[in-house]
Amino acid sequence: MGEKVAEHEWLGEEYFEDPHTFHARLRADAAATEVVLPRSVKVWLVTRYDEARQLLADPRLSKEFGGFAPLFDRHYVGTRARDVFDQSLVQHMLNSDPPDHTRLRKLVTKAFTPRRVEQLRPRVQQITDELLASVREPSEVDLLDLLAFPLPITVICEMLGVPDDKRDDFRLWSNVLVGVGNDPMSIQEAGTAMAEYLSALVQSKRDDPGDDFFSELVHASEGGDSLNHVELMSMAFLLLVAGHETTVNLIASGVYNLLRHPEQLARLRADRSLLPGAVEEFLRYEGPVNQATFRYTTEDVRAGDVVIPAGELVLVSLMSANRDESRFPDADSFDITRPTGGHLAFGHGIHYCLGAPLARIEGEIAVGALLDRFDVELAAEPETLRWRESTLMRGLYTLPVSLVPRGAR
Ligand code: HEM
Repeated sequence: MGEKVAEHEWLGEEYFEDPHTFHARLRADAAATEVVLPRSVKVWLVTRYDEARQLLADPRLSKEFGGFAPLFDRHYVGTRARDVFDQSLVQHMLNSDPPDHTRLRKLVTKAFTPRRVEQLRPRVQQITDELLASVREPSEVDLLDLLAFPLPITVICEMLGVPDDKRDDFRLWSNVLVGVGNDPMSIQEAGTAMAEYLSALVQSKRDDPGDDFFSELVHASEGGDSLNHVELMSMAFLLLVAGHETTVNLIASGVYNLLRHPEQLARLRADRSLLPGAVEEFLRYEGPVNQATFRYTTEDVRAGDVVIPAGELVLVSLMSANRDESRFPDADSFDITRPTGGHLAFGHGIHYCLGAPLARIEGEIAVGALLDRFDVELAAEPETLRWRESTLMRGLYTLPVSLVPRGAR
């Protein structure tokens, strides 16, 4: 035990409505606190900026997938049987330490560099324009359905050469697996369906390669490189889920916060060169990832005034770190011109988000095009909007907005 004897905090429903107040309370008390997650696992939640950054890059915190099962069993405090994730979906870089991590990440890095991603800009713009073109008259729409969901999904599916027909199923399974839906489907059921689908996808790329980069990867592995069938499935799973669940919230939460701060929206409308900085502030202020993915301590690790013993599960709250006053003065105010350097919305260290350049481009294009084409207003009272009950992802279920084509007034 650390110097501080932690009381377990329970993350209940009110946590999802307003995690920021809860985090502020934990930050004031300690750098890390033991909490019990809604799925009833006891973990250490790291909430202060300095310790969050330090622990994300600390090799004594492991992500090796083989080490998790006994720890989840040990720290499980629920009453029903623990959900077990399909093992063919977990063997990816975000669940690996070096040298596996290095090997897996290296194989796909090239496809996601800022230069390569910049080449996708015209296509991202085209998809965005097509999605927005359906609104020709003043309308009330759910911005998630209209733009925030379909844009990133279409982009990542095109990159990976995933056909259109299964995208709705994929969204459902993906929602269940990252715990952002309240669908009756179980994790096991969604995992099995997803695994069967991805196994068939790998096989189809093997039999009938396209000019997408996933086909390249499948065939590279046959040329003596070391990605086996399950690693390919896991890689596709990681990239597709990351493409489905994150950027959607960058766009939706970003627009939501602009609409809640009309003076910031007016500044952005008046000076479009502020857009890249605004996207960084969207990420800092209300990033898509609340708590980074699981890690576990392989030795005792100090986090500020607390020692986290070996063999404990650790979650770093990126959202809390990004609201830490000691790093971002006046952290709870939304200011699209503030310095945001060092925000942790994309993580830090060797697992720093591979898709960050792509997400930034998608965010800029989506928000830029929306403002170019429409006058936008919230079409619901903010208090009535619901946030997803996930500790991993932070995002709205729906974002009702009224859109009036510019020039139509
Ligand atoms: C705004 C959108 C996004 C946000 C906020 C985001 C955030 C993150 C974060 C915080 C991590 C590190 C997690 C951890 O250390 O536990 C991460 C890792 C990762 N992200 Fe993203 N992500 C976004 C979009 C994307 C996109 C579009 C892709 C590409 C398809 C992507 C692919 C990945 C991959 C492959 C990793 C694992 C990297 C590794 O383990 O080395 N992300 N992301």
